[in-house]
Amino acid sequence: MKFNFNEKVDRSKNHAAKWEEMGKKFGSDDLLPMWIADMDIKTVPEVVEAIKEKADQAIFGYVYRPDSYYETAAQWLEKRFGYKINPKTLIHSPGVVPSMNMLVKSLTKEDEKVLIQTPVYPPFAESVKNGKRTLVTNELVKDENGYYTMDFEDLERKLSDEKVTLFILCSPHNPVGRVWKKEELEKVGELCLKYNVRILADEIWRDLVLPGHTHTPIASISKEIEDITITCFSPTKTFNIAGLQASFATFPREEEWKAFDTELGEMDIKRNNPFSLVGFEAAYKHGEEWLSELLEHLDGNAQYVVDFIKERIPEIKTFKPEGTYLMWLDFNGLNLTPAEITDMLLKDAKVAMNDGAGFGANGTGFARLNIACPRYMVEDAMERIEKAVRNIKK
Ligand SMILES: Cc1ncc(COP(=O)(O)O)c(C=O)c1O
Repeated sequence: MKFNFNEKVDRSKNHAAKWEEMGKKFGSDDLLPMWIADMDIKTVPEVVEAIKEKADQAIFGYVYRPDSYYETAAQWLEKRFGYKINPKTLIHSPGVVPSMNMLVKSLTKEDEKVLIQTPVYPPFAESVKNGKRTLVTNELVKDENGYYTMDFEDLERKLSDEKVTLFILCSPHNPVGRVWKKEELEKVGELCLKYNVRILADEIWRDLVLPGHTHTPIASISKEIEDITITCFSPTKTFNIAGLQASFATFPREEEWKAFDTELGEMDIKRNNPFSLVGFEAAYKHGEEWLSELLEHLDGNAQYVVDFIKERIPEIKTFKPEGTYLMWLDFNGLNLTPAEITDMLLKDAKVAMNDGAGFGANGTGFARLNIACPRYMVEDAMERIEKAVRNIKK
């Protein structure tokens, strides 16, 4: 391995939300942070060089985006997924969540309904609530091994409601770790076409697909599906540069591209900051080798957790994610109340994870573990959880 993802990192001067906001969020600073989705891993060296070069220029005025900014993103998409798009369909936005909030409002009318699949990243439901639209949920179904699939019968029933006009897809899926198969996405696309429902595809995790799995951009499936889909993505999760705060959205329809551009213009948030401008391009240009080694590291961490749980804490259920660096741990087998599970994790194990209930009602009794860190942190987390579970059993 060229890169050492097990290097101990010191984020004490990094203004890291993951470390510094723990006290406010979890009521204690004395926890192992395995929550918010960034990595305790240094980014691609060329990204650092590009940012240092920009910093050395010592002028941080308004920036302009060269064509190469979008072209590099489109080239990455074609190289990684075999999907060719016109870079002119891309637009910059300050983040996927801001885009989602804007698009819920612009793609639907006030009396319309928006469909999401739970459990899912909390801003999905929040964006619908913020937009004052009605939320409709299609629950993912879990088999006895903790593997989630889509309930297509229920999905069709919900999509057939003529008030449902937008479906927000999470692909790959946070938190259940599924990389949806092409056949699954084809069905989703066909159903949305059949019932005239637009697709907002959040594909921010699409590069973080573990060995043996393949991501299909839903818009790449057919021209018809591409035409009803707006895809949001970013290199921020992929290369651990979320603090640079930028993202892309792909608009197949020119008039919608223009409307989005106008809205960003009205709020005057159309520009990158100087560091995302150069950091993003450097990541897509130089990050491929780093990413392929990272995926091996994440795969090793995921396997470690799966094996540890199987051998030492079989009361907890989980499965190896196909994508993302998030693991979805099911504590319901402990027969504790949700409050007791939270207490066990925070007060005894002292591990900060995202509470599953925030991802939808069917996330109750679960917690989301972030494994994008050096192995020793994952080992520490698992040993702490094991000890806390033993204490409960005593
Ligand atoms: C599915 C999903 N979408 C969006 C985001 C955040 O995107 P952004 O920081 O660009 O708003 C996350 C962060 O974890 C995520 O998991």
